[in-house]
Amino acid sequence: MRAAAAAEEPSTPIRHRLQILLLVASTNLISVYFFSGASMRVSMPSHAPRFHLSQSDVLLRELNSTHAELSAAESLLSSLTSQCSDSSSLLHKLLSELGRVHRDKSPASSSVPADDRFDGWPEEKLAVGPHKLPFGFTPNIGADELFPPLGFACRIYQEEVQQYMTYEVGAECPGDAVLAQKLMLQGCEPLPRRRCRPKPPAGFPDPAPLPDSLWRIPADATVVWDAYTCKNYSCLVNRGRSKGGSVDCKDCFDLVNGRELRRWLVDDGRLGFGIDSVLKMKRAGTIRVGLDVGGGTGTFAARMRERGVTVVTTTMDLDGPFNGFVASRGLVPLHVSVAHRLPFHDGTLDVVHSMNVLSNWVPDAVLEFALFDVYRVLRPGGLFWLDHFFCVGAQVNGTYVPMLDRIGFRKLRWATGRKLDRGIDKNEWYLSAVLEKPMT
Ligand SMILES: *[C@@H]1O[C@H](CO)[C@@H](O)[C@H](O)[C@H]1NC(C)=O
Ligand SMILES: *[C@@H]1O[C@H](CO)[C@@H](O)[C@H](O)[C@H]1NC(C)=O
Ligand SMILES: *[C@@H]1O[C@H](CO)[C@@H](O)[C@H](O)[C@H]1NC(C)=O
Repeated sequence: MRAAAAAEEPSTPIRHRLQILLLVASTNLISVYFFSGASMRVSMPSHAPRFHLSQSDVLLRELNSTHAELSAAESLLSSLTSQCSDSSSLLHKLLSELGRVHRDKSPASSSVPADDRFDGWPEEKLAVGPHKLPFGFTPNIGADELFPPLGFACRIYQEEVQQYMTYEVGAECPGDAVLAQKLMLQGCEPLPRRRCRPKPPAGFPDPAPLPDSLWRIPADATVVWDAYTCKNYSCLVNRGRSKGGSVDCKDCFDLVNGRELRRWLVDDGRLGFGIDSVLKMKRAGTIRVGLDVGGGTGTFAARMRERGVTVVTTTMDLDGPFNGFVASRGLVPLHVSVAHRLPFHDGTLDVVHSMNVLSNWVPDAVLEFALFDVYRVLRPGGLFWLDHFFCVGAQVNGTYVPMLDRIGFRKLRWATGRKLDRGIDKNEWYLSAVLEKPMT
């Protein structure tokens, strides 16, 4: 309120001064424009006299120098034209800013933007905007206000978002990691930012140094366990050794005796490709940066790091501290769901891997968008290793082969096979493939 009121008072003198300044500036620019324009409209008349060869040497030289002057003048003109158009867009901005300052005098203005685009938005409108950008700092944005990014579905889950955004500014955040992640998985992603501090674990120890950290289960004191069923790492490791249960990535925390130690080291010639045989499909050293989609506790990234490849791991904390675990190994966790647009620029990654995550539980349309997004972030010649994609038999040729063809990948390696690993044959199939983004 105070800030808005204070800004109104000087607006009138400022406006007048700006108008005078603009008048002076634009008059000058316009006269420069016409002056230089007039001096440049030099063209040879069509009835220019022809000269005898005897005079030609001198005349040619003169013509030559006239020509050079003409082209210098032309380039001056074009630079002046562009300056004029710059200043006209500056004028436009100044005028719209003046208009805004004028409008802001209306009694409705307050520190919370009066904006019906956010009617019904629960708390902390500051988190979602709009925010006026300081004048003069907006050339790359193309607008004079900023809305912080926010998942569209946040509007659908207003009650939960209201709960999430109810906290004391500047204090400790509520212990609501489960709620936050549930909102993300429902499509409220990204979540609005908050101005509070998450509760840190008590007695957080220094991380282990690389490369030891890659294969070390971190100390229990690195985690706030409130959100999880298990209250320590030995519980998480043991849940992987127990039979039954359908916890996500159940045995992924066992870096001591579990399957995690053996993954991707051997190529079985069927569905289980080895990291080294996949890397050999490209010239040595040309696979350098990549992404593992739904990479659990980061073991794929660990194995790649041992081979000099930097891999970022997207992972969700599904009843376990997956993100913290990846980080404690000295690898990069990325907390985004499989529905989220990949936060990489087009054509930047050498390899994308995904195991057991992109599969037939993902609605076809969402999956197709996700696969196009993988294609987008890969560089030409980059590899998409689709690892143990599961579905029912008829879907392989009925749905997924045509989908992958539509996206435009080239098949370098392809294997399908019955999924029998739980001992029950429910006509479930696995598909493993190395696909290449074509060079053109
Ligand atoms: C005209 O200028 C060009 C280079 O701009 C030069 O190569 C040429 O010899 C000149 N001709 C005369 C007649 O000076
Ligand atoms: C680990 O947590 C479980 C419960 O999650 C508990 O039963 C067990 O005693 C704990 N073990 C250690 C070593 O703290
Ligand atoms: C898909 O089609 C191919 C070629 O037509 C066939 O060899 C393969 O067995 C089919 N796969 C499945 C899972 O039906």
